[in-house]
Amino acid sequence: MGKGFDGTEISNVSVGAALPHDFDAGRRVLLKGGLGAAMAAAFGGMSGCSTLLSGGAVKIGFKGIAASLSDALIVPDGYTATPFMPWGEPVGALAGMPAWKSDASNTAAEQALQMGMHHDGMHYFPIDGSKRGLLVMNHEYVDDGLLHADGMKTWSLEKVRKSQASHGISVIEIEDKNGQWHAVRPSRFARRITANTPIKVGGPAAGNAMMKTAADPSGTTVLGTFNNCAAGMTPWGTYLSGEENFRFYFAGGENITDPHMKRWGLNKGAFFRWPEHDERFDAIKNPNEINRFGWVVELDPADPNSIPVKRTALGRAAHEGAWVAITKDNRAVVYSGEDARFEYIYKFVSRDKIREAGNGLTKAQANSELLDHGTLYVARFDADGRGRWLPLVAGVGPLTAANGFASTGDVVIKARQASDALGGTKMDRPEWIAIDQARGEVYCTLTNNSQRGVDDNPGVDAANPRARNNMGHIIKWKEDNDFDALSFSWSHWVLAGDPANQRADAKGNIRGDLFACPDGLTLDDRGIMWIQTDAAAAEMGKGEFQNIGGNQMLACDLATGDIRRFLAGPANCEITGCTFTPDGRTMFVNIQHPGETPSERGDPSDPMRFSKWPDGASGGRPRSSTLVIRKVDGGVIGT
Ligand code: FEO
Ligand code: CA
Ligand code: CA
Ligand code: CA
Repeated sequence: MGKGFDGTEISNVSVGAALPHDFDAGRRVLLKGGLGAAMAAAFGGMSGCSTLLSGGAVKIGFKGIAASLSDALIVPDGYTATPFMPWGEPVGALAGMPAWKSDASNTAAEQALQMGMHHDGMHYFPIDGSKRGLLVMNHEYVDDGLLHADGMKTWSLEKVRKSQASHGISVIEIEDKNGQWHAVRPSRFARRITANTPIKVGGPAAGNAMMKTAADPSGTTVLGTFNNCAAGMTPWGTYLSGEENFRFYFAGGENITDPHMKRWGLNKGAFFRWPEHDERFDAIKNPNEINRFGWVVELDPADPNSIPVKRTALGRAAHEGAWVAITKDNRAVVYSGEDARFEYIYKFVSRDKIREAGNGLTKAQANSELLDHGTLYVARFDADGRGRWLPLVAGVGPLTAANGFASTGDVVIKARQASDALGGTKMDRPEWIAIDQARGEVYCTLTNNSQRGVDDNPGVDAANPRARNNMGHIIKWKEDNDFDALSFSWSHWVLAGDPANQRADAKGNIRGDLFACPDGLTLDDRGIMWIQTDAAAAEMGKGEFQNIGGNQMLACDLATGDIRRFLAGPANCEITGCTFTPDGRTMFVNIQHPGETPSERGDPSDPMRFSKWPDGASGGRPRSSTLVIRKVDGGVIGT
């Protein structure tokens, strides 16, 4: 036995070894009953994404903290933030629990049973309310210089496989024991989805000619998901994960002339050096493989044997994530944006209504094809404060066979080209979306766009009003009547940046504590909007960023508009992932890439990696990690 990161005993079982017999009693009961009534009730009874804006005043009770550039994690007085399940900790899969080695000498096979790198979007799914649940999270990408014991000094298939195993999604079972959260290990729910896990293709792109490869001539099963950025959850208890910057994994050779590949930004070489040892990522040899990424992946965490599904009806994009609203007649509306300069915001409206559990099916199983049928729209923000949802339907308007859109599959695979043809609004990098279900309102962070109005790029427009938008903004819209409306009214909620230290043509209007580059956005059940930032390490503390500090998390009481800084992260990290237990008394947040170097390729001993978080000076190398945030008095977070 060894100690896990959180101090609990973990069996140091090697890969493929038999299950150890140290279940705790509660675990045994649940296993005996299979998913059982408790699990079904917990998953079936969730209120989904709906935000219950309780009547009366909502209040922020904490004192805002100062901006910080130090290598410290700071929260307000009266709060604790405890690192939990960092990169390398065994997830507790039945297949084995290889212990983390601080010199990063874990093998690829071991990494496939451990927490991945670069924790990102995340959601807590209750099993027993606020006491026990599944924490599901994305691992967006890796810093190969840190991932391998000798950094990038050599490069091999084993290193590619370890890099692939560090990507994807983790499902862990967690439990609050005597006021402290622990991972339940082993757990039948614990699993890793990596860049090599088989994933089904659902919806109109399944079987499309552009999805077929030599290894998958039917175009219906893809190996893996990666660059999983933000996460959403559905009212039927599943997890939605966005495949964001997939293009960085593929190499296209010297001359990329294919207009489709050019539109999707295929590069000559890959940033992640997978194609050097894995031909799947060589876009010359396997030109269709890249079309199989850029989707929203749906995972049913309650069924550890479930195969995740790429929901192609939601459109292909550099998906940040996906977030679900419910129409008055109980259909699902999924909002998503693509975090890329001058790309689009989408929504999908399901054809069918959300079904309840029954006939032996859980609610997740009853809705297993809900996101495969419906209509996809792209947003157009007009100068008069109104907007339109433009349908991406094959055969309608410019989306004809002659223009390359012979089928719905063609439209969703080429969603960018379809949106170009329809005249959607090219946005400043749409990141997270937060839905106010009760008010029919939707918020979207637009993190920044340094290239707006530069050279031949599009200039400012009403929705994206700042040239060289280094600071970012948050846009808000209200659907006409219901979430499936074809039109809406929009406004800017906040223009980020320091109003005292900005160009005259790019003034911000924050009321309260300063921030830049909004990314994460979560509306809690009390009507507090939580904002998380992702400014580049190279810019922090300089120029327009001088008074803003490092990346941080802030809270805004939507009733007053006042913004208050809640958390400052360690050096060169990004703050992301935000989810609560149902009682609101535990908040889980992710710290991504502490100690990131500008190149992300440096030697692990590079002095630029000055973050020692979370392990301290003796720990070896910085690690992305979840945080468990609580109030010392046990109260609701934010009060
Ligand atoms: Fe992965 Fe757009 O942040
Ligand atoms: Ca993000
Ligand atoms: Ca980032
Ligand atoms: Ca970002």
